[in-house]
Amino acid sequence: MKVLGIMGSARVGGNSDVLLSRALEGAREAGARVQKIVLDRKHIAGCRDCKKCNKTGICVLADDMSGIQELILEADAVLHAVPVYFWSMSSQMKAYLDRWCVFFDAEWRWQKACYPKMRGKRIGLLTVCGDPDPHTADPIVHSFRMTAEMTKMHWLGAVMASASDKGEIKGNGAALREAFDLGKKSAAPQQ
Ligand SMILES: Cc1cc2nc3c(=O)[nH]c(=O)nc-3n(C[C@H](O)[C@H](O)[C@H](O)COP(=O)(O)O)c2cc1C
Repeated sequence: MKVLGIMGSARVGGNSDVLLSRALEGAREAGARVQKIVLDRKHIAGCRDCKKCNKTGICVLADDMSGIQELILEADAVLHAVPVYFWSMSSQMKAYLDRWCVFFDAEWRWQKACYPKMRGKRIGLLTVCGDPDPHTADPIVHSFRMTAEMTKMHWLGAVMASASDKGEIKGNGAALREAFDLGKKSAAPQQ
């Protein structure tokens, strides 16, 4: 099993990063090989809606997303961690998610070439917000859950937590446990 972690905050060592690292520890304990990508260290331009990828399955933008797309195709599960910015996801994560267009044809069906690899792939989410109510992140959960539903990926669920200062989440034992369990679930043998 390969589990890919996608980190959507610029704060390396921050709350999203801590939760994702914990999730990847859970996946590793379940026997998976894990890899973490820090989106802020990559060059990922915004989708241009040129529709070329709908036909070719190849994005016209030559940046770091093509390598990440390969890693997504190879992974059995993809776990995303992201902070809430203005009741939405960080710009790094949004640019990344919009570039998933490359996986689809003009009818929003998987490209034939990637269908066997993407269908049923496991996908999960970890969110952090400064608001004491972790449901402030509901719009982000909606984006990822709907993406999973539309594409028949296997939705693993979301861990939603509150924290403000960098690394503050380390004091939230319940969130760390939930993150670890999500990671374990992402790498569990097929039922
Ligand atoms: C630009 C920006 C916008 C933010 N907007 C919100 C918001 O709308 N709601 C909220 O609860 N927290 C908001 N926050 C707080 C972050 O979600 C919070 O500090 C979080 O712990 C950051 O996670 P990180 O350490 O992974 O970067 C915002 C922070 C920044 C920098």
